[in-house]
Amino acid sequence: MLNGKRILLIVAGGIAAFKCHDLIRRLRGQGAHVRCVLTEAGARFVTPLSLQALSEDKVYTDMFSLTDESEMGHIELSREADLLVVAPATANILARMAAGMADDLAATVLLATDKPVLAAPAMNVRMWTHAATVANVETLKKRGVTFVGPNDGAMACNEYGPGRMSEPAEIVTAIDAMLATTGSLTGKRALVTSGPTREALDPVRYISNHSSGKQGHAIAAALAKLGADVTLVSGPVSVADPFGVKVVKIDSADQMLAACLAAGAVDVAVCAAAVADWKAAKPADAKIKKKAGAPPPALELTPNPDILATLSQPGPQRPRLVVGFAAETENLVANAVDKRTRKGCDWIVANDVSPATGTFGGERNTVHLVTGEGVEEWPTLAKDEVAVRLANRIAGQFGPPRSIKAAE
Ligand code: C5P
Repeated sequence: MLNGKRILLIVAGGIAAFKCHDLIRRLRGQGAHVRCVLTEAGARFVTPLSLQALSEDKVYTDMFSLTDESEMGHIELSREADLLVVAPATANILARMAAGMADDLAATVLLATDKPVLAAPAMNVRMWTHAATVANVETLKKRGVTFVGPNDGAMACNEYGPGRMSEPAEIVTAIDAMLATTGSLTGKRALVTSGPTREALDPVRYISNHSSGKQGHAIAAALAKLGADVTLVSGPVSVADPFGVKVVKIDSADQMLAACLAAGAVDVAVCAAAVADWKAAKPADAKIKKKAGAPPPALELTPNPDILATLSQPGPQRPRLVVGFAAETENLVANAVDKRTRKGCDWIVANDVSPATGTFGGERNTVHLVTGEGVEEWPTLAKDEVAVRLANRIAGQFGPPRSIKAAE
C-alpha cells in the first residue's frame, strides 16, 4: 500500500526509540522509502548505524554539517517527503514543535515542512497528563498534526497508564490511513453531530450526559482531511475544534436539530452526538427555589426530537448516506441492527459503552459497523483511527477512488 511513498522518520530520545527498528522494517516491507533524522537524545537510545542499516539510507543528525546542507538541506529533507513521522514523539520534541523552535535539525525540519505530520507520543504517564503536554498536543492538533496513541500499559519506569508508544503495526496503519489511496471527499458536504446536549431545567440547572465529543470531533476532522466541506454541530465539550471544520456550538437537542437543518443539503450526515432523549416539559424561567419542608419538585419530561431519524427521512434533501451511532451496554449488535431499521439510517456504528470498556471519555473504541450488507467487527482502535477508517469507508461510497493524501 505504501509503494514508493517517502517517509521522513524523526527519532527523538525515548526508550521507545528501539521500536523504530521494527517500524522501519515494516514500512520498507510495504514498499516505502524511509529516511531518518535522529536527535542527539535519540542517539543515546539507538545508533545512526542501526537506522542506516535498516533504512539503507543516510541518517541525518547534525544541522550544521555543511556537506549535508549542500547535499540535502533541512528544507529539502521535508520537501522530498510525503509524510513526516515523529516516533517516539517525546514531551520535549512536542513542546519544541508547539513552540515553533528550530534548535536542532529535527525541530527545524518540522518547522520548515508543509507536509502532513504524524506523531507517536511516548513518555511517562505524568508527563503525558501534565497540563503543559496536554496544551502542546492541543496546539499541534489544531495545526493539523495527527496523533497515533499513546497506549495504556506498563512503562519502562515501572508505572502504568497512558504514555506507551503505539506499536509499529498501529503506526503503520495510521500512516496507511494518512496516505490512503481510497476515495476523496473533495467537493462533498458533510454534517457531523458530536458531544452531549444540555436540557435546561431552569436558568442554572440542566440534564446532560458524559459524552466527551472525542469520537464525533475525530470523525469531523477525518472527513475534512479527505477534502469534505464539514459542518460540525457540537454540544458543550472540552475537546478542541478540529482543524479546517466549520463548528456550530449549541446546547440543547432542539438547537442541535435547528443547526443541522440550517446547514442545508449535505452528501453525508454522521450523528455521533449523545442527544438527551428527554427535556423538561416546562423549564422554569427563574431558578427553582428550595423551600423548607416542601417536597422536592416533580420533574416532568417530554421527548426530544430525534435528529438522526429526522435527517434519515426520505425526500429530496435526504443525504445520500446517513450514519448513526448506537451506544449500548448489552445486546450490542442486535440492538444496532434494530436501530438501523427504526431510525431509517444507512449505517450504524455500534459501540459498547458499558463502564468496564472506558469508551465514554476514553481514547479508544471497539465498534461494529452495521450496514445494509451485514455487520463488520472492527478491532479496538484509538478514536482517531476509528474516525479515519469510517471516513475512508464513507469516501468509498462516493465516486471512483483516486489517489489522495488524507492530510491534503
Ligand atoms: O436512540 P438512541 O439515542 O440510542 O440512538 C443513537 C443515535 O441516534 C445516535 O446516532 C444519536 O446521535 C442519534 N440521536 C439523535 N437524536 C436523538 C437521539 C439520538 O440524533 N434525539
